Amino acid sequence: MKVSFVLVFAFLTAVTFTTTFSKAAEVLPPADGAKVWSHISKANPYLGWGFWPGYYGLKPGKSPHGAYVKVYANGIALKAAREGKPLPNGSILVKENYGKDQKTLMAVTPMYKINGYNPEGGDWFWGKYGPDGTVQAAGKPKGCIECHSVQKDKGWVFLQPEVE
Ligand code: HEC
Repeated sequence: MKVSFVLVFAFLTAVTFTTTFSKAAEVLPPADGAKVWSHISKANPYLGWGFWPGYYGLKPGKSPHGAYVKVYANGIALKAAREGKPLPNGSILVKENYGKDQKTLMAVTPMYKINGYNPEGGDWFWGKYGPDGTVQAAGKPKGCIECHSVQKDKGWVFLQPEVE
């Protein structure tokens, strides 16, 4: 009786430790279009992340993004945003771009901060994917960087988190 109790206890401790530990340490992908897609769609699917604080669910978007957008953030980005801190390396924001019908997913445009990747571009890796994951742009696309550079002082991010 005693032995089985100890075994069950050891098992539960191991499970708790493993789940806690794997949550804390997100294994991040390298700066590669296909690998970043694989990360945000399979390894750590963004649909399971939280919405960017203050922008929950479908919202009207601005050109060139969709007429409607959803913005998700990984755990690293969410933690910093909730603490009112700048986004650290490892932060990923994923934006879903929808058409006017509010239903058709046109593109997925993430930005992912990688230590030393592109210092003059805030170290962000940018991607544009078709809804099926086809890589349309990845890395340092001029378009993303030039437009987002007007927000340089705010971490290259337009939508500033609103934390209650
Ligand atoms: C002409 C300007 C422009 C270009 C080009 C552009 N963006 Fe944006 N982006 C915006 C604006 C404005 C917002 C916030 C409003 C909205 O959601 O539409 C935004 C929001 C975002 C967000 C949500 C975080 C934030 O900054 O608010 C992500 C992620 C993003 N863009 C990624 C990209 C990627 C990746 C590209 C290139 C493939 C890109 N953007 C190109 C203007 C631009």
